[in-house]
Order: sequence, then C-alpha cells, then structure tokens
Amino acid sequence: MKPFIVANWKCNPASLKGAKLLFDSVARGIKNVRKVEVVICPPFIYLSNIQHLKSNIQLGGQDCFWEEKGAYTGEISPSMLKDLGVEYVIIGHSERRKYLKETDEMVNKKIEAALKQGLKPILCIDKISQLKKDLEGVIIAYEPLFAIGTGKPCSIGKAKKMRILIKKNLKRGAPILYGGSVNSQNAQDYIKKAGFQGLLVGSASLNSKEFLSIVKGIDSL
Ligand code: PGA
Repeated sequence: MKPFIVANWKCNPASLKGAKLLFDSVARGIKNVRKVEVVICPPFIYLSNIQHLKSNIQLGGQDCFWEEKGAYTGEISPSMLKDLGVEYVIIGHSERRKYLKETDEMVNKKIEAALKQGLKPILCIDKISQLKKDLEGVIIAYEPLFAIGTGKPCSIGKAKKMRILIKKNLKRGAPILYGGSVNSQNAQDYIKKAGFQGLLVGSASLNSKEFLSIVKGIDSL
C-alpha cells in the first residue's frame, strides 16, 4: 500500500483565490510523484472549485454529518461529499472534539455514515479509548494533543510505541497515520523509523514548498 499524506487545511486559506493557488501549486509540484497517495482536505466551501480531476491529488472533507439529508442546519452529509468526487473524510479531529464538543458517540455515527457512502474515514485519536469502532475501511490517525499545532512533534520512540499499541487493538488491519507538527525535517522518520503508513499534516500543508518537500521526501524512500 502507498503511504498516505493527508493535508488538513483546517479553516484556511482565507479566500478561494488563495485556495486555488495553493492547490495548483501542490498539483504542479507532485506531477511526477508515483509512490505516495496525496489527499487534500480543504474547507468544504472550496471543494467544488478545486479542479482535482486534472491532478493526481485526492480530495477529502474535514468532517461530515451522520444523516444523509434533512433539517440539520449547517451540516454536510457524506453523500454530498461523494457527489463532489471526495474520497476521504477526516472524522473526530481533536479541534472538533474541543471546540464543537464532539463526543465518541457522534464520531462513531459519522464513521458509519461515511462508510455507508463509500467514503474512506480518517479517524483521529489521541488515546486508545477513542478506538471504539473497529470497522473495515477506516484509516486511523494518531494525533497526540500536545503535538497538534504546537511545533512540538511527538518523539519517534513514543509515536512508534503508540502505533504498535493501536495495531494490537485493531482486529482488522488498518493503515495508521501520524499527525502533529509534521514538517519536512521529521516526516521521513515517522514512516521509516516509527513505521506509520502515512501522515496527517496541518500547518505545514499551507506552505506549498514545505508540503511538497514532505511529499517528495516520502516518495524518495
Ligand atoms: P499540525 O496539525 O500539523 O499543524 O500540528 C495537524 C493536525 O491537526 O491534523
């Protein structure tokens, strides 16, 4: 399986123009990348304006709702994402758990709904107890809270221990990604030394030069 590099743009960039520029610059830069699956998760509002079909980038959502349609103001359903050509969806990111009070129960409902529509959910966890559902087709992202957006990445040793623990707790094999202050200096070590199958990249994915250097570094392994 190819390693995954997932860009989580969060609530950035501030304009559609900025989003298109960032996407196009990454798309141009990875034209010859063959050994890495690159997924970009922009804010929902930019999804339909991004010409991903002309590139070798897959699109992801940063969240989805658990119902398909109905009176749920502000929500976006898995089938709406699928309709726009989205393949992946981040679910249970710690920022949503913190600021939007998402619970494990809500996260599990979202995962089931996403799978039903054929989306590939990327379940973010920072502790084993959040690994409630062991469903086929789920990608796990280990994102320690202290490392998210802090510039203080998890040590390779600790990350590796956690990867092994997560693996032991999964009855079915699932790709396990690392996320939290990934940059071009540490990216390769999480794959090569800690054995992760991919990376979830936040801040560094907003700088196309830095993001391309992460992707190319993994492609060259
Ligand atoms: P970061 O974010 O790379 O800025 O630490 C990672 C994430 O939240 O997925």
